[in-house]
Amino acid sequence: MEIKVVPLAKEELKPKYESEENLGFGQIFTDRMLVSHYHEGWSDPIIQKYEPLVLDPAAICLQYGQSIFEGQKAYLSRSGSINLFRPNKNVERFKASAARMVMPSIDDNIYFEGLKELLRLEKDWIPSSIGSSLYIRPTMLGIDGRLGVQPSKKFLFYIILSPSGSFFPEGFKPVKIYVSDFWIRAAPGGTGFAKTGGNYGASLLVGEEATKKGCDQVLWLDAIHKKYVEEVGAMNIFFIIDDVIYTAPLQSGTILAGVTRESLIYMAKDLGYKVNEEALSIERIINCIKNKTLTECFGSGTAASIAPVGALTYKTEEYVIDNFEIGPISQTLYDKLIGIQYGLISDPYNWIVTIN
Ligand code: COI
Repeated sequence: MEIKVVPLAKEELKPKYESEENLGFGQIFTDRMLVSHYHEGWSDPIIQKYEPLVLDPAAICLQYGQSIFEGQKAYLSRSGSINLFRPNKNVERFKASAARMVMPSIDDNIYFEGLKELLRLEKDWIPSSIGSSLYIRPTMLGIDGRLGVQPSKKFLFYIILSPSGSFFPEGFKPVKIYVSDFWIRAAPGGTGFAKTGGNYGASLLVGEEATKKGCDQVLWLDAIHKKYVEEVGAMNIFFIIDDVIYTAPLQSGTILAGVTRESLIYMAKDLGYKVNEEALSIERIINCIKNKTLTECFGSGTAASIAPVGALTYKTEEYVIDNFEIGPISQTLYDKLIGIQYGLISDPYNWIVTIN
């Protein structure tokens, strides 16, 4: 495989952001993107100028949502190297999403070697402050232009990069979550485990409802009983009850297998905490908040990292968790995760892949 790099003229380079403080999430993009086409096989990747795509208006991805994506981050380590966090997990999930959406498996070299080369070229865009990073968005689209509801035969794979700050404007501070007991995100047999655009599109309406109620994200209950807690809009969710850490199990296929989720479970067990992957009912959670045995709650995701949850709004009531403070277990896991990702502490699990 050869990676072709299209040189950019000086005038084509964008001005860099002025300050890392107000980057927001996913709002600005670097100068270059990586592109590869598929038709009976993947073409050698090209690193070219970041620019709009030209798509047939009848493209299957636009008409019927045959599209998948990943979310990763590149961190600038204290030693100046580029750190990726468990990137093989993202490729693995990208392939699982592709299989569910009848899309071809990405070539590992295109994904890994292409990403590494793109990051080397765009290194100056990586913010250095803790909490900021270069968010990586690998994407695949079915691009055949026809209106029959059939899988595309041609695909476009690309990677774009966005210098980003904290996912939530407040940073590492408790957020408020709205529990949806009517709308659902995913049912068994559906696409819940895949990172496909439609899962997120379907969440927008309830997201608006949550915003109106003063909440930051939606907590989804299971589709069948509307009883068991599954995940939050852009995150998996954890609860700490009587010093045991709980998160929803993955077996139903309705929950995204978060890389951060898996890493936190591993780290928490290694730190000596008991972790139960168990379906918890919303009634139990509310009761445990009321009787104060539920002491902490946090969301986890690549974009969000760890987001402490300070309150749940369920039906008409707001239930505040632990005085809207950051609990000790959330803080310990956050410090360890961030420490590993930014190279502030040693990486006992060999999770970091360094690019020089
Ligand atoms: C991520 O955490 O990387 C995600 O993909 C969530 C999101 C849709 C922003």
